[in-house]
Amino acid sequence: MPRDRRLVVVANRLPVARNRAGEWEVSPGGLVTALLPVVKARRGAWVGWPGSTDRGSRPFLEERVRMRPVTLSDAEVRDYYHGFSNRTLWPLYHDAIRTPEFHRHWWRAYLEVNRRFARAAARTSRPGDMVWVHDFHLQLVPAMLRELRPDVKIGFFLHIPFPPEELFAWLPWRKQVLEGLLGADLVGMQIASDARNFSRLAREFAGAEGTDTELYIGRRKVRIGSFPISIDFDEFNSIAEHPETISRAKEIRRQVGASRKIVLCVDRLDYTKGFDSRLRAWENMLEEGHVTVKNNVLMQVAVPSRESVPDYAAMREQVERTVGRINGEFSQPGQVAVHYFRRNLPRHELVAYYRAADVMLVSPLRDGMNLVAKEFVASRPDLSGVLVLSEFAGAAREMRRALLVNPRDIDGLVQAINGALKMPRQDVRQRMAILRMVVRRHDVHAWAAEFLEVLNR
Ligand code: ADP
Ligand code: G6P
Repeated sequence: MPRDRRLVVVANRLPVARNRAGEWEVSPGGLVTALLPVVKARRGAWVGWPGSTDRGSRPFLEERVRMRPVTLSDAEVRDYYHGFSNRTLWPLYHDAIRTPEFHRHWWRAYLEVNRRFARAAARTSRPGDMVWVHDFHLQLVPAMLRELRPDVKIGFFLHIPFPPEELFAWLPWRKQVLEGLLGADLVGMQIASDARNFSRLAREFAGAEGTDTELYIGRRKVRIGSFPISIDFDEFNSIAEHPETISRAKEIRRQVGASRKIVLCVDRLDYTKGFDSRLRAWENMLEEGHVTVKNNVLMQVAVPSRESVPDYAAMREQVERTVGRINGEFSQPGQVAVHYFRRNLPRHELVAYYRAADVMLVSPLRDGMNLVAKEFVASRPDLSGVLVLSEFAGAAREMRRALLVNPRDIDGLVQAINGALKMPRQDVRQRMAILRMVVRRHDVHAWAAEFLEVLNR
């Protein structure tokens, strides 16, 4: 990784937010999990929103990162964050699993807030710095920043899928979004098909010329590439090897009943994650006797997310109703069919759950990458545990030794979970060893080094 240029990360959220006790706490979500170790290692700066509408936050140092807060008003949180980012772009970019809404006043707030981030990034950077802009909230920043600071290198990385033309063309501001992204020197996507979608759309709607990997806007070159994001493998692996984690994992197993097999799910409470079909598959397995509460338990750990958005609130209610129904039908005294925890677990506790599981079920309907799948294998130095993974997660491209499933196919899910629970030990170990090698070789530091090396060319 080039060490001579300074790194400035620009993302909607700062990696830390104040909790109820007023202390800084690491923010949830894949973007922060992946990027924080990278920015820490490089002692970089991070421009982002601190997650509240308090005014006047000053720059501060936390987790060895220089934090530059960007403040948002209540109206901007409503229109830019909950509105355009989470009710227009998020569903549109995730296969329109929920119907995206298009409102001009949301778009105006998106423009205004992107301008504010571009100005903050411009103030934070020195000539020659690498400014790395992240995710769907800030797609206009690259072009706005280029206007203000043509003397910095600008990279952009999208953490979520980039949709095909059939969906992207719905967006009334499609040309402006593409032009915003094309302000970067390098546009990075999670997987090759996302990069291809972007290049084609840039040629069709924004006057770019060139190939799928190199576009020209006039004489200026924009590189396009796929850079599958990863995790800090060593960090998860060493937490998993710690004696306290091992004894906590044993305790979790003892608490649920030492002889019961645990199927674990860990997700943000988001409608892209496929809660409904996985719960239906589990219910089906109980009904048909593939599993019993005596011998098996499903554990769902879910972190609350975007709760002011109606689709999220409705989904949470539905998940909780379904869990209640399954438990009402199948639980026995001292043995529930589904353990449901709605909370953000500290890292060491999360890893203890990963270590305690027999099967990890990751079944999003659509996901840019899905880091939970990678965290699970990094947390299994004992080489046991089987990963069942949705074909519609970016991670499925690399993690071919998982049991890959179509998350909408209930029979397929039942079959895969059954296969995972019954898999011979030797097969489990072989698959896990290969999965761990894949993630260890391509950890988040390799990902960042690769992106920044191309940006620095
Ligand atoms: P997304 O980026 O959509 O949230 P990912 O799977 O890529 O999905 O990343 C989710 C991140 O949030 C992971 O790092 C995971 O460990 C973390 N996470 C999810 N649920 C919880 C939870 N209940 N407690 C703590 N961390 C969680
Ligand atoms: C996903 C997105 C991130 C986002 C995270 C948590 O990982 O790609 O940009 O930060 O979800 O969502 P939130 O809306 O709470 O920031």
